[in-house]
Amino acid sequence: MYILGIETSCDDTAAAVIEAKGGLAKPSFSVLASVSYSQVAIHKKFGGIVPNLASRAHLEKIIPTIKETFKIAKKKPENIDLIAVTKGPGLLPSLLIGVNIARALAYKWQKPVIGVNHIEGHIYSNWLPLRFRESDKFFDSRNQTLFPALILIVSGGHTELVLMKDYGKYKIIGQTLDDAAGECFDKTARLLELGFPGGPAIAAEAAKISNPKSEIRNKFQILLPRPMINSKDYNFSFSGLKTAVLYLYNDLIKKYPAKEIRPAMAAEVQNAIVDILTAKTVKAIENLNPKTVMIAGGVSANKALREKMAREFESYKIPFLMPDTSYTTDNAAMIAAAGYFNYLMKKPTQNSWKKIEANANLNI
Ligand code: KG4
Ligand code: ZN
Repeated sequence: MYILGIETSCDDTAAAVIEAKGGLAKPSFSVLASVSYSQVAIHKKFGGIVPNLASRAHLEKIIPTIKETFKIAKKKPENIDLIAVTKGPGLLPSLLIGVNIARALAYKWQKPVIGVNHIEGHIYSNWLPLRFRESDKFFDSRNQTLFPALILIVSGGHTELVLMKDYGKYKIIGQTLDDAAGECFDKTARLLELGFPGGPAIAAEAAKISNPKSEIRNKFQILLPRPMINSKDYNFSFSGLKTAVLYLYNDLIKKYPAKEIRPAMAAEVQNAIVDILTAKTVKAIENLNPKTVMIAGGVSANKALREKMAREFESYKIPFLMPDTSYTTDNAAMIAAAGYFNYLMKKPTQNSWKKIEANANLNI
């Protein structure tokens, strides 16, 4: 079946058309088009997302984005079998735009529509096809031995370790007690005056001194705290890291040039976040014996995180799945894929435009 996905939960206006087949026994997807309009340019000067501006921009861009998606996919509304839209969690003014356009299109085209949990969407980004051949072997092997799957969701608003027992069956085993990992990247990047969004900015700054012979790298012995890294649970805390960055940066900047301090601080911020996320995931692998481990969400684009996790998980001999980097940050292809699983598991009568409502605080 062909599914139109719509995503407007935060600051990306996104639409996608995917083909889904195989049912729960052997699900497989191809992405015909995935279009995303980023609002970074709008929010950049505020150093974070302004909800009302986000909503306005979604309203302006949603129809052109859907039109472009159909054009690239070479499909027409009559080819679509299902509409899937993010109904939460997220910013309510943003969610309302996507939900209402999906309801209107479902009514006009007389198609079923499904409201999708954004976090579930991130999880299913791992089911979308990968661009690189080497990784495809996981894709083939995983249908038999997938569950229970341990999934680390790391985005701008969420940091959660989830044990997925089957399709649609999730248990949150740990989560952040304060800031999300992406939020920590964003806030520390702001303190270091590196711009927005912070994750890619910190990663790029850290890369400047990635060479072990780098003079700056060896000049500063910066050590930031790794809050809760050894706590007995699977919870996280990142706000102390941000505060430590604030004090240390203000101190160092008095003595050394910013162009030396920034890469050294950025590298250590990235190391600290990567260490914490990896340690907690390893603890969960050891205690819970999952059949697979996956990561998802915007922070899972981070190269240092991917490399460290791949190294650390190797000895556990279970497949480590990472979404293609094009599906790590918010996109509508993952929402369409989640829509397929929801559709397979629900009665068709529930798929009416009358039933979809936005919920900013939706849980999985
Ligand atoms: O999943 P996402 O697009 O939106 C939410 O659902 O929140 O995640 C956005 C977050 C931002 O905090 C951004 O700084 C972070 O993902 N991010 C990264 C990278 N790319 C995006 N963090 C670290 N390294 C990256 N390469
Ligand atoms: Zn997201």
